[in-house]
Amino acid sequence: MLMFREKIPASWVEKVKAQLPAVLVDHAHLERKAATTAISLEKYRELFGHVGELNAIAIEELQHFQLVLNLLKERGIPFSQPFPSHWITGLMRSIRHGARPQVIDHLICCAFIEGRSCEKFQILARELAPIDPPLANFYGSLVESEGNHYATYILMAREIDDAETDRRLDFYLDLDATLMREPNPHPVLH
Ligand SMILES: [Fe+2]
Ligand SMILES: [Fe+2]
Repeated sequence: MLMFREKIPASWVEKVKAQLPAVLVDHAHLERKAATTAISLEKYRELFGHVGELNAIAIEELQHFQLVLNLLKERGIPFSQPFPSHWITGLMRSIRHGARPQVIDHLICCAFIEGRSCEKFQILARELAPIDPPLANFYGSLVESEGNHYATYILMAREIDDAETDRRLDFYLDLDATLMREPNPHPVLH
């Protein structure tokens, strides 16, 4: 797993636990966006050789989306609007223009979202176990898949340009750390 330069603040899990229903709605949107993002990566010519793999990720994310929607239904939580995430916006805003820079940055941003999700789902699997075992199990069941998505996106970036990927990882690790220090008070995962 990627060595992030900033730990997830302890206040994050408390915030999530205090507003679980709204966070589940945010999670549903996160999976929906992960599916559409995997498909949007297929527009880059550098990734034409990976269309099948990207489709597989999109299908998996769509399945995750449906699983979260099922949870919402079971719990009587209406599917509603998402809150903005300055962490995701901050990462995405720094994607450079131009063919190669753009695809490498986009892949790294996607990898970071997957990597941080993987980390946070692990925390939720542990922290929710005493208070909400079914939800804890659900989060535990997603960890491996999000970890694989993280690794796949990093490998795709490295295949395009290994040295440039290292340079941009260094940049994005600093940016992630800066953005992580500004906690989002809204009921969001990121
Ligand atoms: Fe997912
Ligand atoms: Fe994912």
